[in-house]
Amino acid sequence: MATPTDLENLKSSLRRDYDPFATKVTIQSHLDEIADRRAELPVSYSAPGGGCWIVTTYDDISSVLRRNNRGFVSFPNEPPTEQKNLQGKRKRMIPIELDGSVHRQYRNLLDPLFAPGAVAKLEPKLRAAANHLIDQFIERGSCDFSREFALPYPGGTVMGIMGWPLEDMVQLSEWADIMMHGIYGATDEENNQARAEASQELGGYLTAMIAERRAAPARDDVTSLLLDGKIDGEPLPDDDVFDAFLLMVFAGLDTVQSALSQCMLYLGRHQDRWDEMFAGPDTLVPAIEELLRWTTMPVPTRTATETVEVGGIVLPAGERLHCPLGAANRDPRYFERPDEVIFDRPRTKPHIAFGVGPHRCLGSHLARLELRIGFEELRRRLPSFRIDPGVTPEEHLGMAWGVNNVNLLFPPGERDS
Ligand code: HEM
Repeated sequence: MATPTDLENLKSSLRRDYDPFATKVTIQSHLDEIADRRAELPVSYSAPGGGCWIVTTYDDISSVLRRNNRGFVSFPNEPPTEQKNLQGKRKRMIPIELDGSVHRQYRNLLDPLFAPGAVAKLEPKLRAAANHLIDQFIERGSCDFSREFALPYPGGTVMGIMGWPLEDMVQLSEWADIMMHGIYGATDEENNQARAEASQELGGYLTAMIAERRAAPARDDVTSLLLDGKIDGEPLPDDDVFDAFLLMVFAGLDTVQSALSQCMLYLGRHQDRWDEMFAGPDTLVPAIEELLRWTTMPVPTRTATETVEVGGIVLPAGERLHCPLGAANRDPRYFERPDEVIFDRPRTKPHIAFGVGPHRCLGSHLARLELRIGFEELRRRLPSFRIDPGVTPEEHLGMAWGVNNVNLLFPPGERDS
């Protein structure tokens, strides 16, 4: 068994600091750094913020996530950093930071409404939401795609599954966006102020929704499922319903927004690929899978609860491991020329953009449906587009890597309604 001195020696011999919230980097330059790290030190130690192990290979990342509840737990599911040291100073996010039996009960409750058959019913609503948003900018011949489509569109999906009014979609998405990313170009002080206000307003909205729906008859949606659900035989208190609502908003919005924005940025720079995606009846779905691999944004973190071995390194309980899924999905061991988008890539291994193990994405079927319908409607209404050369897209890391702004130019079209 490793003694404390052994561990300190190990940390110093494998030390290479990592900044999960680095600014002024592009996602690709960050992935280049990870590729170098993977080649030099596949599992490395980063000291800032209390310390964390950075895992970079497909096999090691999958193995850590699969061993959730068997050597690892998911709380706190955020990387340690000096800038944002929130660890342990807040409640657990439900269900992503719950483990064991309580987590399983939440999944048993929620899984049926996120199954493929259940989410397929949302298709007409998704198409309507996509077209409503495109109508707002189609005559203009230009848009900030991230703000005007990629953000509110998954907001509409969240409204659909939760059974909340669709007309609140834009407002809800804006609150969530400010809370997650602040305001583009604002000072730190302005951002803190805006975040506090958005958090209060979103909180007020969710609290009012709980009260309104508790007083109304049950419906076939996630809101009723949580309000009427039981964990350990007890109804969920409002606080826990609130937390589960909040996670649904964040998990459902930021990921899809990032995938859509990164994809349209790539496709605007490679119009031949936009055509290729729609070349035949069977080309869109594999293209979306490859784009999901290439745009992978989530960055799970786990904590060891017993002595564990990862990539040949033995670590004691209490050590934390950061597992950027983009690193796994760009591992050249399984994805040849990993930085290229190859729609007919041979399937050596499935990508793990939706994670693996007990916390595997609850919304994966919904996300795939959103992307397919979103792309179909965008293709119908924007058969060609390009990136506005006058606006530089800004990318960010953080809890979900993404792009803040993707400004598109295209031949103006007519509104659908
Ligand atoms: C491209 C879109 C999406 C991607 C890439 C994605 C990815 C992920 C990943 C990797 C996890 C596991 C994180 C971990 O292990 O720590 C996760 C969990 C989760 N996702 Fe998604 N997600 C997407 C869309 C959605 C949508 C649309 C929803 C629902 C509205 C959703 C709801 C959730 C929930 C509730 C969890 C927690 C599951 C649990 O803890 O058991 N996600 N997602």
